[in-house]
Amino acid sequence: MEQNYESDIKGNILVVDDQSANLKFLTEILKHEGYQVRIALDGKTALSSVDLAAPDLILLDILMPEIDGYETCRRLKQKESLKNIPIIFISALSDSFDKIKAFKTGGVDYVTKPFEPEELLTRVNTHLSRKIMMEKLEQQNIELEKEINQKKISEEELKKYQNYLEKLVKDRTSDLITSNENLKAEINERKQIESELIQSEKLSALGELSASLVHELSQPLFSIQLLAQILIKNIDSNQLEIENLQIDLNEIVTQIKKMDEIMHHMKSFSHKSDNDLTEAVSINKVIEGPLKVCQKQLAHQNIEVKLQLNPELPQVKGNSNRLEQVLLNLINNARHALDDCQKKDKTIEIKSYHNMNKDLNYVVLEVKDNANGIPENAKEKLFQSFFTTKAPGKGTGLGLSISNKIIADHEGKIEVESEVGKGALFRIILPVIESVIG
Ligand SMILES: Nc1ncnc2c1ncn2[C@@H]1O[C@H](COP(=O)(O)OP(=O)(O)O)[C@@H](O)[C@H]1O
Ligand SMILES: [Mg+2]
Repeated sequence: MEQNYESDIKGNILVVDDQSANLKFLTEILKHEGYQVRIALDGKTALSSVDLAAPDLILLDILMPEIDGYETCRRLKQKESLKNIPIIFISALSDSFDKIKAFKTGGVDYVTKPFEPEELLTRVNTHLSRKIMMEKLEQQNIELEKEINQKKISEEELKKYQNYLEKLVKDRTSDLITSNENLKAEINERKQIESELIQSEKLSALGELSASLVHELSQPLFSIQLLAQILIKNIDSNQLEIENLQIDLNEIVTQIKKMDEIMHHMKSFSHKSDNDLTEAVSINKVIEGPLKVCQKQLAHQNIEVKLQLNPELPQVKGNSNRLEQVLLNLINNARHALDDCQKKDKTIEIKSYHNMNKDLNYVVLEVKDNANGIPENAKEKLFQSFFTTKAPGKGTGLGLSISNKIIADHEGKIEVESEVGKGALFRIILPVIESVIG
Protein backbone atom coordinates (compact mmCIF):
# COMPACT_ATOMS: atom_id res chain seq x y z
CA MET A 1 0.00 0.00 0.00
CA GLU A 2 1.39 3.36 -0.95
CA GLN A 3 1.60 6.04 1.71
CA ASN A 4 1.63 9.76 1.44
CA TYR A 5 4.78 10.50 3.41
CA GLU A 6 4.77 14.18 2.60
CA SER A 7 1.89 14.87 4.86
CA ASP A 8 2.62 12.74 7.88
CA ILE A 9 6.39 12.76 8.18
CA LYS A 10 7.52 15.44 10.52
CA GLY A 11 10.94 14.34 11.70
CA ASN A 12 13.70 15.71 13.78
CA ILE A 13 16.22 17.77 11.77
CA LEU A 14 19.67 18.95 12.77
CA VAL A 15 20.78 22.11 11.03
CA VAL A 16 24.50 22.80 11.10
CA ASP A 17 25.73 26.25 10.02
CA ASP A 18 28.24 28.71 11.44
CA GLN A 19 26.09 31.64 10.33
CA SER A 20 23.38 32.28 12.87
CA ALA A 21 21.36 34.19 10.27
CA ASN A 22 21.29 31.11 8.09
CA LEU A 23 20.38 28.98 11.07
CA LYS A 24 17.51 31.22 11.91
CA PHE A 25 16.21 31.28 8.36
CA LEU A 26 16.36 27.51 7.97
CA THR A 27 14.91 26.86 11.41
CA GLU A 28 11.95 29.05 10.64
CA ILE A 29 11.16 27.41 7.33
CA LEU A 30 11.40 23.94 8.82
CA LYS A 31 9.52 24.67 12.04
CA HIS A 32 6.83 26.35 10.02
CA GLU A 33 6.44 23.11 8.14
CA GLY A 34 6.09 21.24 11.42
CA TYR A 35 9.58 19.71 11.81
CA GLN A 36 11.45 19.61 15.07
CA VAL A 37 14.68 21.47 14.61
CA ARG A 38 18.02 21.34 16.45
CA ILE A 39 20.96 23.51 15.60
CA ALA A 40 24.73 23.37 15.78
CA LEU A 41 27.11 26.17 14.97
CA ASP A 42 30.06 23.99 13.98
CA GLY A 43 31.02 20.47 13.03
CA LYS A 44 32.26 19.45 16.46
CA THR A 45 29.04 20.50 18.20
CA ALA A 46 27.11 18.75 15.49
CA LEU A 47 28.98 15.47 16.06
CA SER A 48 28.46 15.44 19.81
CA SER A 49 24.82 16.50 19.43
CA VAL A 50 24.24 13.59 17.05
CA ASP A 51 25.96 11.27 19.50
CA LEU A 52 23.50 12.25 22.18
CA ALA A 53 20.39 11.78 20.05
CA ALA A 54 20.34 10.86 16.40
CA PRO A 55 18.27 13.19 14.18
CA ASP A 56 16.25 11.97 11.20
CA LEU A 57 18.06 14.24 8.75
CA ILE A 58 20.96 16.70 8.78
CA LEU A 59 21.30 19.94 6.83
CA LEU A 60 25.02 20.61 6.68
CA ASP A 61 26.85 23.78 5.68
CA ILE A 62 30.07 23.27 3.77
CA LEU A 63 32.20 26.12 4.93
CA MET A 64 32.68 26.11 8.64
CA PRO A 65 35.70 26.80 10.85
CA GLU A 66 37.78 23.87 12.22
CA ILE A 67 35.89 20.92 10.76
CA ASP A 68 34.21 21.73 7.49
CA GLY A 69 31.04 20.11 6.18
CA TYR A 70 32.80 17.37 4.20
CA GLU A 71 34.82 16.22 7.21
CA THR A 72 31.80 16.39 9.51
CA CYS A 73 29.92 14.28 7.02
CA ARG A 74 32.76 11.80 6.68
CA ARG A 75 32.98 11.32 10.44
CA LEU A 76 29.27 10.93 10.78
CA LYS A 77 29.19 8.25 8.12
CA GLN A 78 31.94 6.35 9.88
CA LYS A 79 29.63 5.47 12.72
CA GLU A 80 27.52 2.43 12.00
CA SER A 81 24.53 3.77 13.97
CA LEU A 82 24.56 7.09 12.11
CA LYS A 83 25.39 6.14 8.60
CA ASN A 84 21.78 5.96 7.46
CA ILE A 85 20.94 9.52 8.44
CA PRO A 86 20.50 11.45 5.18
CA ILE A 87 22.77 14.49 4.98
CA ILE A 88 21.91 17.35 2.65
CA PHE A 89 24.69 19.81 2.00
CA ILE A 90 23.99 23.54 1.85
CA SER A 91 26.38 25.54 -0.27
CA ALA A 92 26.50 29.12 -1.35
CA LEU A 93 26.88 29.94 -5.02
CA SER A 94 30.10 31.66 -4.13
CA ASP A 95 31.47 28.53 -2.43
CA SER A 96 33.76 26.36 -4.45
CA PHE A 97 31.39 23.43 -3.84
CA ASP A 98 32.77 20.08 -4.83
CA LYS A 99 29.72 17.95 -5.62
CA ILE A 100 31.75 14.82 -6.22
CA LYS A 101 33.43 15.15 -2.85
CA ALA A 102 30.10 15.86 -1.22
CA PHE A 103 28.59 12.63 -2.57
CA LYS A 104 31.76 10.65 -1.91
CA THR A 105 31.80 11.58 1.76
CA GLY A 106 28.24 10.32 2.06
CA GLY A 107 25.90 13.24 1.28
CA VAL A 108 22.61 12.43 -0.41
CA ASP A 109 21.80 15.80 -1.88
CA TYR A 110 22.67 19.48 -1.88
CA VAL A 111 20.89 22.84 -1.98
CA THR A 112 22.53 25.96 -3.26
CA LYS A 113 21.95 29.25 -1.56
CA PRO A 114 19.95 31.23 -2.19
CA PHE A 115 17.10 28.79 -2.55
CA GLU A 116 13.37 28.85 -2.47
CA PRO A 117 11.96 27.41 0.81
CA GLU A 118 9.79 25.15 -1.34
CA GLU A 119 12.84 23.58 -2.95
CA LEU A 120 14.49 22.91 0.40
CA LEU A 121 11.32 21.46 1.87
CA THR A 122 10.78 19.18 -1.11
CA ARG A 123 14.27 17.77 -0.80
CA VAL A 124 14.02 17.39 2.96
CA ASN A 125 10.74 15.67 2.59
CA THR A 126 11.94 13.37 -0.18
CA HIS A 127 14.95 12.19 1.78
CA LEU A 128 13.07 11.79 4.99
CA SER A 129 10.45 9.70 3.20
CA ARG A 130 13.18 7.63 1.62
CA LYS A 131 14.85 7.09 4.97
CA ILE A 132 11.64 6.06 6.61
CA MET A 133 10.84 3.79 3.72
CA MET A 134 14.31 2.30 3.89
CA GLU A 135 13.94 1.76 7.60
CA LYS A 136 10.59 0.15 7.12
CA LEU A 137 11.98 -2.04 4.39
CA GLU A 138 14.88 -2.99 6.57
CA GLN A 139 12.54 -3.82 9.40
CA GLN A 140 10.42 -5.91 7.05
CA ASN A 141 13.56 -7.58 5.80
CA ILE A 142 14.60 -8.44 9.31
CA GLU A 143 11.19 -9.83 10.05
CA LEU A 144 11.16 -11.76 6.80
CA GLU A 145 14.56 -13.16 7.60
CA LYS A 146 13.36 -14.11 11.05
CA GLU A 147 10.33 -15.79 9.52
CA ILE A 148 12.49 -17.63 7.01
CA ASN A 149 14.81 -18.77 9.77
CA GLN A 150 11.85 -19.85 11.84
CA LYS A 151 10.54 -21.75 8.85
CA LYS A 152 13.92 -23.32 8.28
CA ILE A 153 13.99 -24.42 11.89
CA SER A 154 10.46 -25.78 11.63
CA GLU A 155 11.35 -27.53 8.41
CA GLU A 156 14.40 -29.02 10.02
CA GLU A 157 12.39 -30.11 12.98
CA LEU A 158 9.75 -31.52 10.68
CA LYS A 159 12.39 -33.40 8.75
CA LYS A 160 13.88 -34.70 11.98
CA TYR A 161 10.45 -35.78 13.16
CA GLN A 162 9.72 -37.33 9.80
CA ASN A 163 12.98 -39.26 9.95
CA TYR A 164 12.16 -40.33 13.46
CA LEU A 165 8.70 -41.50 12.37
CA GLU A 166 10.12 -43.28 9.36
CA LYS A 167 12.58 -45.10 11.57
CA LEU A 168 9.83 -45.90 14.01
CA VAL A 169 7.65 -47.32 11.24
CA LYS A 170 10.61 -49.28 9.87
CA ASP A 171 11.42 -50.71 13.28
CA ARG A 172 7.79 -51.50 13.99
CA THR A 173 7.37 -53.11 10.58
CA SER A 174 10.36 -55.32 11.09
CA ASP A 175 9.12 -56.16 14.60
CA LEU A 176 5.75 -57.00 13.12
CA ILE A 177 7.27 -59.15 10.39
CA THR A 178 9.26 -61.05 12.99
CA SER A 179 6.32 -61.55 15.30
CA ASN A 180 4.16 -62.45 12.33
CA GLU A 181 6.64 -65.13 11.35
CA ASN A 182 6.78 -66.38 14.92
CA LEU A 183 3.02 -66.43 15.02
CA LYS A 184 2.84 -68.36 11.77
CA ALA A 185 5.34 -70.90 13.08
CA GLU A 186 3.35 -71.18 16.30
CA ILE A 187 0.08 -71.63 14.40
CA ASN A 188 1.64 -74.34 12.28
CA GLU A 189 2.98 -76.05 15.35
CA ARG A 190 -0.42 -75.86 16.99
CA LYS A 191 -2.10 -77.22 13.90
CA GLN A 192 0.37 -80.06 13.93
CA ILE A 193 -0.29 -80.80 17.60
CA GLU A 194 -4.03 -80.49 17.08
CA SER A 195 -3.97 -82.91 14.21
CA GLU A 196 -1.90 -85.36 16.29
CA LEU A 197 -4.40 -85.01 19.11
CA ILE A 198 -7.36 -85.62 16.82
CA GLN A 199 -5.64 -88.69 15.45
CA SER A 200 -4.73 -90.06 18.85
CA GLU A 201 -8.29 -89.59 20.14
CA LYS A 202 -9.57 -91.42 17.07
CA LEU A 203 -7.13 -94.29 17.56
CA SER A 204 -8.06 -94.47 21.22
CA ALA A 205 -11.76 -94.70 20.27
CA LEU A 206 -10.92 -97.41 17.79
CA GLY A 207 -8.62 -99.13 20.27
CA GLU A 208 -11.44 -99.48 22.68
CA LEU A 209 -13.40 -101.27 19.96
CA SER A 210 -10.53 -103.52 19.02
CA ALA A 211 -11.75 -106.39 21.23
CA SER A 212 -15.04 -106.57 19.39
CA LEU A 213 -13.28 -106.14 16.07
CA VAL A 214 -11.00 -109.04 16.82
CA HIS A 215 -14.10 -110.99 17.63
CA GLU A 216 -15.68 -109.90 14.39
CA LEU A 217 -12.67 -111.00 12.42
CA SER A 218 -12.23 -114.23 14.28
CA GLN A 219 -15.69 -115.47 13.28
CA PRO A 220 -15.16 -115.59 9.50
CA LEU A 221 -11.61 -116.75 10.15
CA PHE A 222 -12.99 -119.64 12.15
CA SER A 223 -15.52 -120.51 9.39
CA ILE A 224 -12.74 -120.48 6.78
CA GLN A 225 -10.57 -122.69 8.94
CA LEU A 226 -13.42 -125.14 9.51
CA LEU A 227 -14.33 -125.35 5.81
CA ALA A 228 -10.69 -125.81 4.83
CA GLN A 229 -10.23 -128.57 7.39
CA ILE A 230 -13.33 -130.40 6.08
CA LEU A 231 -12.02 -130.06 2.54
CA ILE A 232 -8.62 -131.48 3.51
CA LYS A 233 -10.32 -134.35 5.36
CA ASN A 234 -12.51 -135.12 2.32
CA ILE A 235 -9.49 -135.07 0.01
CA ASP A 236 -7.68 -137.43 2.37
CA SER A 237 -10.59 -139.87 2.45
CA ASN A 238 -11.30 -139.46 -1.25
CA GLN A 239 -14.74 -138.18 -0.48
CA LEU A 240 -14.36 -134.87 -2.22
CA GLU A 241 -17.43 -134.05 -4.23
CA ILE A 242 -16.98 -131.39 -6.83
CA GLU A 243 -20.41 -129.83 -6.10
CA ASN A 244 -19.65 -129.46 -2.40
CA LEU A 245 -16.19 -128.21 -3.18
CA GLN A 246 -17.66 -125.36 -5.15
CA ILE A 247 -20.14 -124.50 -2.40
CA ASP A 248 -17.45 -124.58 0.28
CA LEU A 249 -15.03 -122.50 -1.77
CA ASN A 250 -17.79 -119.94 -2.40
CA GLU A 251 -18.41 -119.77 1.33
CA ILE A 252 -14.69 -119.25 1.97
CA VAL A 253 -14.66 -116.39 -0.55
CA THR A 254 -17.73 -114.86 1.12
CA GLN A 255 -16.06 -115.01 4.53
CA ILE A 256 -12.85 -113.50 3.17
CA LYS A 257 -14.87 -110.70 1.58
CA LYS A 258 -16.50 -110.06 4.94
CA MET A 259 -13.13 -109.81 6.63
CA ASP A 260 -11.84 -107.63 3.84
CA GLU A 261 -14.80 -105.32 4.26
CA ILE A 262 -14.20 -104.96 8.00
CA MET A 263 -10.51 -104.40 7.50
CA HIS A 264 -11.19 -101.90 4.74
CA HIS A 265 -13.43 -99.89 7.07
CA MET A 266 -10.87 -100.02 9.84
CA LYS A 267 -8.11 -98.98 7.51
CA SER A 268 -9.94 -96.13 5.87
CA PHE A 269 -11.25 -94.94 9.19
CA SER A 270 -8.00 -95.04 11.08
CA HIS A 271 -5.87 -93.29 8.50
CA LYS A 272 -4.70 -89.85 9.40
CA SER A 273 -6.89 -87.41 7.55
CA ASP A 274 -5.68 -84.12 6.19
CA ASN A 275 -7.29 -80.78 6.87
CA ASP A 276 -9.00 -80.55 3.52
CA LEU A 277 -12.52 -79.32 4.13
CA THR A 278 -13.62 -79.06 0.52
CA GLU A 279 -15.04 -82.53 -0.15
CA ALA A 280 -18.71 -82.82 -1.03
CA VAL A 281 -19.89 -85.08 1.75
CA SER A 282 -23.08 -87.14 2.00
CA ILE A 283 -23.99 -87.30 5.66
CA ASN A 284 -25.85 -90.61 5.32
CA LYS A 285 -22.63 -92.13 3.99
CA VAL A 286 -20.69 -90.69 6.94
CA ILE A 287 -22.90 -92.73 9.26
CA GLU A 288 -22.04 -96.05 7.60
CA GLY A 289 -18.35 -96.30 8.55
CA PRO A 290 -18.59 -95.73 12.32
CA LEU A 291 -21.68 -97.93 12.52
CA LYS A 292 -19.90 -100.76 10.78
CA VAL A 293 -16.95 -100.44 13.14
CA CYS A 294 -19.21 -100.47 16.23
CA GLN A 295 -21.76 -102.95 14.97
CA LYS A 296 -20.47 -106.00 16.82
CA GLN A 297 -19.90 -104.09 20.03
CA LEU A 298 -23.42 -102.64 19.90
CA ALA A 299 -24.92 -106.04 19.32
CA HIS A 300 -22.83 -107.43 22.12
CA GLN A 301 -24.21 -104.76 24.47
CA ASN A 302 -27.75 -105.44 23.37
CA ILE A 303 -28.18 -102.00 21.94
CA GLU A 304 -30.63 -101.56 19.15
CA VAL A 305 -29.73 -98.97 16.53
CA LYS A 306 -32.67 -97.24 14.92
CA LEU A 307 -31.87 -95.39 11.72
CA GLN A 308 -34.11 -92.72 10.28
CA LEU A 309 -32.22 -91.23 7.40
CA ASN A 310 -33.57 -88.85 4.81
CA PRO A 311 -32.49 -90.30 1.44
CA GLU A 312 -32.89 -86.91 -0.25
CA LEU A 313 -30.31 -85.17 1.92
CA PRO A 314 -28.24 -82.52 0.13
CA GLN A 315 -24.47 -82.69 0.51
CA VAL A 316 -22.37 -80.62 2.86
CA LYS A 317 -18.86 -79.33 2.32
CA GLY A 318 -16.12 -80.78 4.48
CA ASN A 319 -13.95 -83.72 5.37
CA SER A 320 -15.78 -87.06 5.54
CA ASN A 321 -13.09 -88.74 7.64
CA ARG A 322 -13.29 -86.02 10.28
CA LEU A 323 -17.09 -86.15 10.30
CA GLU A 324 -16.94 -89.93 10.72
CA GLN A 325 -14.73 -89.36 13.73
CA VAL A 326 -17.35 -87.07 15.28
CA LEU A 327 -20.04 -89.65 14.73
CA LEU A 328 -17.96 -92.50 16.13
CA ASN A 329 -17.44 -90.44 19.27
CA LEU A 330 -21.14 -89.70 19.63
CA ILE A 331 -22.03 -93.37 19.12
CA ASN A 332 -19.31 -94.47 21.54
CA ASN A 333 -20.50 -91.94 24.13
CA ALA A 334 -24.08 -93.19 23.78
CA ARG A 335 -22.86 -96.78 23.98
CA HIS A 336 -20.88 -96.03 27.15
CA ALA A 337 -23.84 -94.23 28.72
CA LEU A 338 -26.11 -97.19 27.91
CA ASP A 339 -23.54 -99.58 29.29
CA ASP A 340 -23.80 -97.85 32.63
CA CYS A 341 -27.60 -97.94 32.74
CA GLN A 342 -29.90 -100.67 33.83
CA LYS A 343 -32.60 -100.18 31.17
CA LYS A 344 -33.90 -103.19 29.36
CA ASP A 345 -34.50 -101.69 25.92
CA LYS A 346 -31.36 -99.84 25.05
CA THR A 347 -31.55 -97.83 21.87
CA ILE A 348 -29.51 -95.39 19.86
CA GLU A 349 -31.51 -93.44 17.32
CA ILE A 350 -29.64 -91.88 14.45
CA LYS A 351 -31.60 -89.44 12.39
CA SER A 352 -30.72 -87.22 9.45
CA TYR A 353 -32.89 -84.53 7.95
CA HIS A 354 -32.84 -81.37 5.91
CA ASN A 355 -33.81 -78.13 7.57
CA MET A 356 -34.57 -75.40 5.12
CA ASN A 357 -36.54 -72.19 5.11
CA LYS A 358 -35.88 -68.80 3.59
CA ASP A 359 -33.11 -67.93 6.07
CA LEU A 360 -31.39 -71.24 6.63
CA ASN A 361 -30.38 -74.35 4.79
CA TYR A 362 -28.92 -77.05 6.96
CA VAL A 363 -28.37 -80.74 7.16
CA VAL A 364 -29.04 -82.04 10.66
CA LEU A 365 -27.73 -85.25 12.15
CA GLU A 366 -28.97 -86.42 15.53
CA VAL A 367 -27.64 -89.16 17.80
CA LYS A 368 -30.03 -89.92 20.62
CA ASP A 369 -29.76 -92.52 23.37
CA ASN A 370 -32.14 -93.57 26.10
CA ALA A 371 -29.51 -93.90 28.84
CA ASN A 372 -29.45 -91.80 32.00
CA GLY A 373 -28.70 -88.46 30.37
CA ILE A 374 -26.15 -85.88 31.39
CA PRO A 375 -26.06 -84.62 34.99
CA GLU A 376 -26.65 -80.85 35.30
CA ASN A 377 -23.18 -80.20 36.70
CA ALA A 378 -21.53 -82.00 33.77
CA LYS A 379 -23.46 -80.16 31.05
CA GLU A 380 -21.36 -77.01 30.99
CA LYS A 381 -18.08 -78.92 31.04
CA LEU A 382 -19.08 -81.33 28.32
CA PHE A 383 -17.06 -79.68 25.54
CA GLN A 384 -14.04 -78.87 27.67
CA SER A 385 -10.87 -80.75 26.85
CA PHE A 386 -10.08 -83.61 29.24
CA PHE A 387 -13.47 -83.55 30.91
CA THR A 388 -14.48 -87.14 31.36
CA THR A 389 -16.51 -89.14 33.82
CA LYS A 390 -15.11 -92.38 32.50
CA ALA A 391 -12.52 -94.71 33.90
CA PRO A 392 -9.04 -94.50 32.40
CA GLY A 393 -8.86 -96.50 29.20
CA LYS A 394 -12.51 -95.90 28.43
CA GLY A 395 -12.34 -92.20 27.71
CA THR A 396 -9.82 -89.44 27.11
CA GLY A 397 -12.15 -86.51 27.75
CA LEU A 398 -11.21 -85.17 24.32
CA GLY A 399 -14.02 -86.63 22.20
CA LEU A 400 -16.53 -83.81 22.48
CA SER A 401 -14.01 -80.97 22.47
CA ILE A 402 -12.45 -82.37 19.31
CA SER A 403 -15.90 -83.01 17.78
CA ASN A 404 -16.86 -79.46 18.59
CA LYS A 405 -13.72 -78.17 16.88
CA ILE A 406 -14.29 -80.34 13.81
CA ILE A 407 -17.88 -79.17 13.46
CA ALA A 408 -16.85 -75.53 13.98
CA ASP A 409 -14.27 -76.00 11.20
CA HIS A 410 -17.21 -77.07 9.05
CA GLU A 411 -19.00 -73.83 10.00
CA GLY A 412 -21.59 -75.87 11.83
CA LYS A 413 -22.46 -76.40 15.46
CA ILE A 414 -23.28 -79.10 17.99
CA GLU A 415 -26.27 -78.83 20.31
CA VAL A 416 -27.08 -81.02 23.30
CA GLU A 417 -30.40 -81.84 24.85
CA SER A 418 -30.65 -84.06 27.84
CA GLU A 419 -33.07 -85.04 30.50
CA VAL A 420 -31.66 -86.86 33.48
CA GLY A 421 -32.99 -90.39 33.54
CA LYS A 422 -34.29 -90.27 29.97
CA GLY A 423 -31.21 -89.93 27.80
CA ALA A 424 -29.21 -87.50 25.73
CA LEU A 425 -29.46 -86.09 22.25
CA PHE A 426 -26.55 -84.63 20.33
CA ARG A 427 -27.49 -82.59 17.27
CA ILE A 428 -24.98 -81.67 14.57
CA ILE A 429 -26.02 -78.86 12.28
CA LEU A 430 -24.06 -78.37 9.07
CA PRO A 431 -24.60 -75.83 6.28
CA VAL A 432 -25.55 -77.22 2.87
CA ILE A 433 -23.02 -76.63 0.08
CA GLU A 434 -23.77 -73.27 -1.48
CA SER A 435 -23.86 -74.47 -5.08
CA VAL A 436 -26.65 -76.82 -4.02
CA ILE A 437 -28.59 -73.96 -2.43
CA GLY A 438 -28.70 -72.06 -5.73
N1 LIG B 1 -24.64 -89.62 25.51
C1 LIG B 1 -24.14 -89.25 26.68
N2 LIG B 1 -24.81 -89.50 27.83
C2 LIG B 1 -24.32 -89.14 29.01
N3 LIG B 1 -23.11 -88.49 29.19
C3 LIG B 1 -22.42 -88.21 28.10
C4 LIG B 1 -22.87 -88.58 26.80
N4 LIG B 1 -21.94 -88.14 25.92
C5 LIG B 1 -20.96 -87.57 26.64
N5 LIG B 1 -21.22 -87.60 27.94
C6 LIG B 1 -20.39 -87.07 29.03
O1 LIG B 1 -19.44 -86.20 28.49
C7 LIG B 1 -18.12 -86.56 28.87
C8 LIG B 1 -17.15 -86.14 27.82
O2 LIG B 1 -17.29 -86.85 26.63
P1 LIG B 1 -16.11 -86.90 25.61
O3 LIG B 1 -15.63 -85.54 25.41
O4 LIG B 1 -16.52 -87.66 24.44
O5 LIG B 1 -14.96 -87.63 26.40
P2 LIG B 1 -14.92 -89.15 26.87
O6 LIG B 1 -15.93 -89.89 26.06
O7 LIG B 1 -13.53 -89.53 26.56
O8 LIG B 1 -15.21 -89.09 28.31
C9 LIG B 1 -18.21 -88.01 29.09
O9 LIG B 1 -17.20 -88.47 29.97
C10 LIG B 1 -19.59 -88.14 29.72
O10 LIG B 1 -19.57 -87.82 31.07
MG1 LIG C 1 -16.11 -89.76 23.92
